[in-house]
This record gives sequence, C-alpha cells and structure tokens, in this order.
Amino acid sequence: MTAQLIDGTALSKLLRTEVAERATALRSHGITPGLAVIQVGENPASHVYVRSKVKACQDNGLHSVLEHYPVTLSETDLLARITTLNNDPAIHGILVQLPLPPHIDAQEVIQAISPAKDVDGFHVASAGALMVGQPGFWPCTPYGCMKMLESIGCELKGKHAVVIGRSNIVGKPMALLLLQKNATVTICHSATRDLKAMTLQADVIVAAVGKRNVLTADMVKPGAVVIDVGMNRNDQGKLCGDVDFEGVRQVAGYITPVPGGVGPMTITMLLFNTLEAAERSLMSV
Ligand code: GUN
Repeated sequence: MTAQLIDGTALSKLLRTEVAERATALRSHGITPGLAVIQVGENPASHVYVRSKVKACQDNGLHSVLEHYPVTLSETDLLARITTLNNDPAIHGILVQLPLPPHIDAQEVIQAISPAKDVDGFHVASAGALMVGQPGFWPCTPYGCMKMLESIGCELKGKHAVVIGRSNIVGKPMALLLLQKNATVTICHSATRDLKAMTLQADVIVAAVGKRNVLTADMVKPGAVVIDVGMNRNDQGKLCGDVDFEGVRQVAGYITPVPGGVGPMTITMLLFNTLEAAERSLMSV
C-alpha cells in the first residue's frame, strides 16, 4: 500500500479563502482583525516564522504589526509592551515568538498576554479551557492537525491515537483534542519503554518530538494515519520531519509530508484564532 498524502498547502489554501471571507465580513462591521507579532533577538528560525506569519496576515486581509526588539530588551520592557497591546483595540491577537532570550522568563511573558488575545493558545487560561472543553484558543499546531484529520473524514471515536511527544505546545494539547473527539489516547515520550509496541496499536499517530526517524515503517500498523509535526534537517540540510517518510508511506493509509504538511496549517490556524478573537471582540461590544 502507498499512503495518500494529506496536503497541508492545498488544505491551507482552501481554509484561507474562509479566512479572507470572515475578514471581509468583520471589516463590514468596522473591524479589521489585527495580530501583533513580537520577536526578541535574532534567532534565525524565528526570523523565518515571524515573516511567514506577518505575510499570511497581509495576504488574507488581516492587519499585522511586527515588533522586533534587540536581544538586550529587558523583561520589564517586554511586559510593558504587552500591557499596551492588551489595551490596544486595533490588536485582537498577540503572539510572542519563542524562544525568548535566556534572561526573559517566557512563562511570565505568556501569562501577561490577555487570554482574550492569546491566539497562540499558550496561556494557562487557554490550556485550562481546552482541558475542560470550554471555549478558548487552541494551540495552532494541534488545531491544524485536527483540521487535517477532519479533511480526510477520519472518524476518531473509539480509535486508538498515539501522540509521540508531550510538549505544552503540541503533544499535550494534541492529546486533549483527540480525547475530545472520543479517541483512546496514549502519550509517549522519552521515558516510554517500548514505543514500537504502542505505535503498532495505533490507528492514528502524531509524531511531535523534533527528532528524525522517530517513526519508521516497522512501527506502523498498515492503513494507519500518520501526522508528522517534526521540522528537522537531514544530513543534506534538507527539511524533514520526525517520520521516515519514504518507509512509512509504504505502510500507512494517510501521511502528511514535510515540508507542505503541518507547517502551513499552523499558520492558517493562527489566522483562524486571530479572526475568532476579533469576532469575539465584536460580540462583546
Ligand atoms: N516558536 C516555535 N513555534 C512557535 C509557535 O507556534 N508560537 C510561538 N509564539 N513561538 C513559536
């Protein structure tokens, strides 16, 4: 069997037409959805990510501001900037690109963002809302993975989903979203004794570790759905995921490529969350 590809670029394109429509509807009510992106320092990957986020806003009718500060910015000054943005009615979403320089406590900064503008979904209020199934903002990467599963009509009820990785940004919220859809969920991590024994039972596997070849063909049940969240470089410097794509595609039913899989979906869901924040601000007027 050769797996069918879940094309994140194509799905994003489709979803971004919805984004543009919703942005137009908001503008007819006098609201232009606005995202503030804060970058501190010169992390090369952050440069690429923030530029993509700002461009996606521009391309889809959202207002965006990029605030790029030198690595020497103090935590106090960053917190003051967030307070200003929290009170700025033109800004509906605030995103502080991670990682932050070591002298800044990232948790302090994330918790300073108003939960109503937490479009990254990293605030404890957002995490708590997801935990208990209340409205809030879902972190963009797991949100995008759920949209990909939905796009192939994957019925999760009663399925066994294995999430590899337990980060606050991807692994844990991913597991909660799958649970919300009534999957039986296993979270595997660096201390898991027999990863292969777990993944071989899985109908759905989400690999989110940040390490090449965490999932190989011998670890996958025939026909399983494989979502690859990884973003790594191979020995030739080419972008690759956590999954041995060429091997696993021979066994899986569906698979996401890297690049062109989860990556574009993450940015699309950031646009969705920003729109959602703007729509909620309209409803609260
Ligand atoms: N750094 C890597 N991924 C992300 C993300 O999704 N959001 C933010 N704010 N920083 C990141």
